[in-house]
Amino acid sequence: LLFTGCGDTKKENNESQTTKQTAEQFVLKFSHVVSANTPKGQAADFFEKRLEELSEGRIDVQVYPSSQLYTDNAVLKALKLDSVQMAAPAFSKFGKIVPQLALFDLPFLFKDIDHLHRVQDGEVGQKLKDMVTDKGYVALSFWDNGFKQLSSSQKPLVLPEDAQGQKFRIMSSKVLEAQFHAVGANPQMMPFSEVYSGLQQGVIDAAENPISNIYTKKFHEVQKYLTISYHGYLGYLVVLSKKFCNSLPADLQEDVKQAMNEATEKERQLAADLNNEQFNLIKEYADSTGKLEILHLTDEQKEAWRTAVSKIYPEFYDNNKIGEDLIKGALATE
Ligand code: LMR
Repeated sequence: LLFTGCGDTKKENNESQTTKQTAEQFVLKFSHVVSANTPKGQAADFFEKRLEELSEGRIDVQVYPSSQLYTDNAVLKALKLDSVQMAAPAFSKFGKIVPQLALFDLPFLFKDIDHLHRVQDGEVGQKLKDMVTDKGYVALSFWDNGFKQLSSSQKPLVLPEDAQGQKFRIMSSKVLEAQFHAVGANPQMMPFSEVYSGLQQGVIDAAENPISNIYTKKFHEVQKYLTISYHGYLGYLVVLSKKFCNSLPADLQEDVKQAMNEATEKERQLAADLNNEQFNLIKEYADSTGKLEILHLTDEQKEAWRTAVSKIYPEFYDNNKIGEDLIKGALATE
């Protein structure tokens, strides 16, 4: 699952014999955009606790949730400058650096979460991490959020044609843009921190998010319809500043590695549990207020969405976009 060094073999830890007792203190700032009570937020908090324990306080981990420190648009630059040491942006946020990570945004590409994990843990996942490492970051782990659902304040989204003309907020992603163009909708890129007010004020009509992001940011309170569609996946790549990684003595690099491995294992479970738990809370809200209608798709309706949106795959066969080998490699992963 994890890194085998800071991605810079030449100067790998040549001065890393320092011990926990004698060496300097380090501060690791971890910036993310979601609430603390999400899979990413809780895993980040767990990582903080574990790394501080393992390093016996030599690394002070500071987690900044809810875009307090950086939005996703700014965080990768900040990480390069070592102004922040760790982040876990959604895959599409790497668009300018490694657009191929948008593989994970392709709708209906994965049969289920186990298939997705096999892709991440296998050859395709390793290739993608190597691309990020080549760009001067330390690619650590893939973290889940989960599958996305559609929501709207304008019209229930049951068939693809229902999306026609609706303004959908999307992350900055060519794949998501193509996905909504494929159903005649009007995609609008917007940072996560602006989605609530965008929905509330009607700047956008609709959105796609996993349940935990909907629940913790109260998007369901500013939408009338929620469609359980599981049409696409939202996940993250945890990245570490290379400069920071190289500055750590070997024993502390090991601690980072161990804390990250443990956090990653926990994160997958948290993602499954929180999305279930928070779905029930949204359902309670819908039942008690009557202000939200939750729609479940039949197999035929789901198939209609799949047919409408999966035709975009060939648009991304170019290696500078995603690449046919990666897309077919993911589809063929057993
Ligand atoms: C989004 O912008 O919708 C997501 O990237 C937010 C997140 O980090 O889950």
